[in-house]
Formats: sequence, C-alpha cells, structure tokens
Amino acid sequence: MQDIQNIAEKIRTLSDGEKRFSYTDLTLEEQLARGKPKKYLEAAIELFRALDGKTIVEIGCMRQPMNHPMSELHPKCCNDGHSTVFWCSTGAEVYSVDIDFKAVRIAKKSIREYRNGKVLWTDGLKFLKKFKSRIDLLFLDAWDVLPGTQYAENHLLAYLAAKDKLRDRNIIVIDDTDVGGGGKGRLLLPVLQAEGYDILVSGRQTIALKL
Ligand SMILES: C[S@@+](CC[C@H](N)C(=O)[O-])C[C@H]1O[C@@H](n2cnc3c(N)ncnc32)[C@H](O)[C@@H]1O
Repeated sequence: MQDIQNIAEKIRTLSDGEKRFSYTDLTLEEQLARGKPKKYLEAAIELFRALDGKTIVEIGCMRQPMNHPMSELHPKCCNDGHSTVFWCSTGAEVYSVDIDFKAVRIAKKSIREYRNGKVLWTDGLKFLKKFKSRIDLLFLDAWDVLPGTQYAENHLLAYLAAKDKLRDRNIIVIDDTDVGGGGKGRLLLPVLQAEGYDILVSGRQTIALKL
C-alpha cells in the first residue's frame, strides 16, 4: 500500500508546467508543444504493477507506427502515444479495440513481438458491453476531440459500459484531457470524482485511481 501511495504522489506532479488549452482547435505548433502521453503511460504502468493488475483494456488503439525504441520521445511521432505497445510491454493481458481497420492493422503489426496482446476490430462501446472479464486498467482514447461531435458523451458512455467489469481497485486513464475544458474527459471526470476516484493528475492525460 505504501508503494501505491508513493507512486500516486509522484503522479500528482506529472502535469506540472504543462500548458492547457481552453479550446480544441490547436495549431500544429500547439500540438507539438503539448504534453506527450509517454510519461503518463509509464506512470500508469507503474501503478498497475503496484496494484498487481492482470488486465488492461484500451479503447482506441495506436494508429501511428513507432519507428524508434520505446525509451525515446519524438514529439512529432509520439503525439498520439503508441499506447498499445506500452500496454503490451507490461506482459499483462491486453485487449485493444478500434473501429478503424487501418489502425487495427498498424497496432497488430506493432505488437507482433508480444504474445499477450489482442487487437480487435470493433466498436468500443459494443466491445465493453459484451466484455466478460475483470478490468484493472481501462484506457479511454477513442472518439477524437472534434468540434460538433459527441466525443465527451461517448467517453462517458464507454466508462458506464465498463463500470461493472472494473475490479474493485482499478485505474482509468483518459487521453486528451488538456484541451477544451477536459476534452475526452469533460463529462467523465466529474462522474469519476463523484464515484470516489482519486484524480491523481489531469493534464495531457488523466490518471484516476480507485482503491
Ligand atoms: C487518438 S487515436 C488513439 C491513439 C492511441 N491510443 C495511441 O496512444 O497511439 C483514436 C482512435 O480511436 C478510434 N475510434 C474512434 N471511434 C471509435 C469507436 N467507436 N470504437 C473504437 N475505436 C474508435 C479511431 O479509429 C482512432 O484510431
């Protein structure tokens, strides 16, 4: 437990110094200057290990190949995050879901060295409703933050669809929460807070912990 608390305290400082944007239509320069997912993914993995997590579910798989070692960060290449590779590197059981076959193909190819990852071509909400096992870490990074779309609503619906499958102690990670008043987490973050999650950090990504 002490280990978990120490990691949690470290995570609270992850977004220090990161710029936030009240709007969503970022310029290319602003996109490049944003916080990057890498440090959040690594921190969430540390927490997942401390919780002795077994299963990770990701909605929205990587759609950009990673042509460099995982330890490196290249702002242009790593703005999306290459999340599927990070999750698979844990050795845990990983389910990654995407509605776009092109992204599925890229993610499958990217994790071919890992035997613990399944990349599935399907709708995230449908998948979560039918999912039968317990989830220790849920990563929500699907519906893009585009004006006039239901991205915040859909990320909330995804959480609600997953809720009864989440283990008692679990982690929710959401991407793109540094734009437009919470971005993909705009509607979900207040719900998580009300349901007893500790929002450890909310910058480029949000990491929320339930103990
Ligand atoms: C921002 S990208 C994910 C980036 C990735 N997580 C990473 O870190 O590299 C968002 C992905 O969500 C997918 N997506 C959009 N709507 C979806 C849905 N209804 N179900 C599943 N995936 C969806 C898109 O096709 C896209 O590939």
